[in-house]
Amino acid sequence: MEFSVTSSNPANRKTDAVIVGIFDKRKLTPAAQTIDEASDGHLRSILASGDLDGKSGSSLLLHGVPGVKAKRVLLVGCGKRAEFDLRALRRASETAAKALKRGGSARAVSGLAGIEVKGTGVRERARAVVEAMAAASYRFDDYRSESSDNGKGLSQLELAVATRRDSDEAQAGIDEASGIAAGVQLARDLANHPANVCTPGYLAEQARALAKEFKHIKTTVLDRDALEEHGMGGMLAVSRGSRQGAHLITMEYRGGSKDAKPLVLVGKGVTFDTGGISIKPAQTMDEMKYDMGGAASVFGVMRACAELGLKANVIGVVPTVENMPDGDAYRPGDIITMLSGQTVEVLNTDAEGRLILADALTYSKKFEPDTVIDMATLTGACIIALGAHASALLTKNDTLARQLQAAGDSSGDRCWRLPLWDDYQEQLKSPFADFANVGGRAAGTITAACFLARFTKDYKRWAHLDIAGTAWISGNEKCATGRPVPLLMQYLLEHHVENR
Ligand code: BES
Ligand code: MN
Ligand code: ZN
Repeated sequence: MEFSVTSSNPANRKTDAVIVGIFDKRKLTPAAQTIDEASDGHLRSILASGDLDGKSGSSLLLHGVPGVKAKRVLLVGCGKRAEFDLRALRRASETAAKALKRGGSARAVSGLAGIEVKGTGVRERARAVVEAMAAASYRFDDYRSESSDNGKGLSQLELAVATRRDSDEAQAGIDEASGIAAGVQLARDLANHPANVCTPGYLAEQARALAKEFKHIKTTVLDRDALEEHGMGGMLAVSRGSRQGAHLITMEYRGGSKDAKPLVLVGKGVTFDTGGISIKPAQTMDEMKYDMGGAASVFGVMRACAELGLKANVIGVVPTVENMPDGDAYRPGDIITMLSGQTVEVLNTDAEGRLILADALTYSKKFEPDTVIDMATLTGACIIALGAHASALLTKNDTLARQLQAAGDSSGDRCWRLPLWDDYQEQLKSPFADFANVGGRAAGTITAACFLARFTKDYKRWAHLDIAGTAWISGNEKCATGRPVPLLMQYLLEHHVENR
């Protein structure tokens, strides 16, 4: 979708649809007021008839509003005026995009960014509107014979702002949001591809393609032989059962000064997780194609950084494998030696993510990172704890926790901290090896992070995000979300971009 700014009266725009907000109950936002005046009170009389009271999530599409040049006026509920914040603005924009998704409107003008939100400028609001509209208009039609909107979806959106001065601010917001949205879209696309296409080799190809497209990105890929030379026992064990060879992908974005220590992002790239010999039940196993959601978010951030040309050094590390049962697969009870030299007793081959992440985290030391964050669809327990609303955040560093939680709050891509106390380490005891790869049913998200913590002792700033509940939507509307790209971009913009 293309985004631009206009400071002229929305009532005079010749376009397919004008989007204006209505507060609960039946209160007009500034753009709605403009339309109401141009139409001689048409909006007020429609609202008085009770068709829309302004509740968040509701909308009403009007055709042929008198005195208005646009073909349609879309009224969008914005909820209570006093509660209207960036979240509500995103929600209203999403509602608008969904209402227009059904077709007919290729071009639209939105007045939503012109609604005042305490403590924000036009730039932030424009960014919120663009990110939300882009996300809500997302489609994944690569495998359909016909596109799901017959090519009739929204393709151009103008943000209406009050003054010329607001225009520059809004444009800056649009630019930033477009880069982030491109990253989110890449993450969603990669994750939505089925596992017979999106294999470890496919991800390696995509990483090479990014390096080709952007001069600031350098990609290196370690294949099976190289992993063996390095002694990455975790990656080799998990990938044994698959015809698809394991790869350790590194994407280096160096847009910052030479001496600035990088932010290293590590993403779990299990392109399909059957569970291995500890095989999963058949129901919803298809969703395990999303077990590379962490990796997808790394790709998304790399693309966003490159598109925005950020002055920052960001390195993406993606361990990618397929977890399959096979005559040569690793078994429960196997003891493996990790890249760190530590030994692990595999009690469950379905706890594979932590094994590949551990090797990738050890490997990342060579980049002398300032901060390391790993993202992984790591535990079903995370969905039990937090559902689909928040990613789990685990770190021993209180400063980093505060920064990531704040980035989640302001981007609307929230995370919530769980403890990472050493008390939980006991659950990983093994009678044979240094420790086991599972810690029982209790506190499954925490013991998984405890396992990773044993490989990140050298990092002052390390955090783990469990995105099992947030990386995709299950059920009827099954789709990758692109989370936590918005959270990571917000964090990165605030803490790793030089002189922003
Ligand atoms: N990829 C799964 C976690 C998962 C399951 C994410 C369902 C989203 C939905 C992970 O590899 C896994 O299987 N974890 C096990 C760990 C257990 C064996 C300790 C789990 O959560 O059951
Ligand atoms: Mn698993
Ligand atoms: Zn998994």
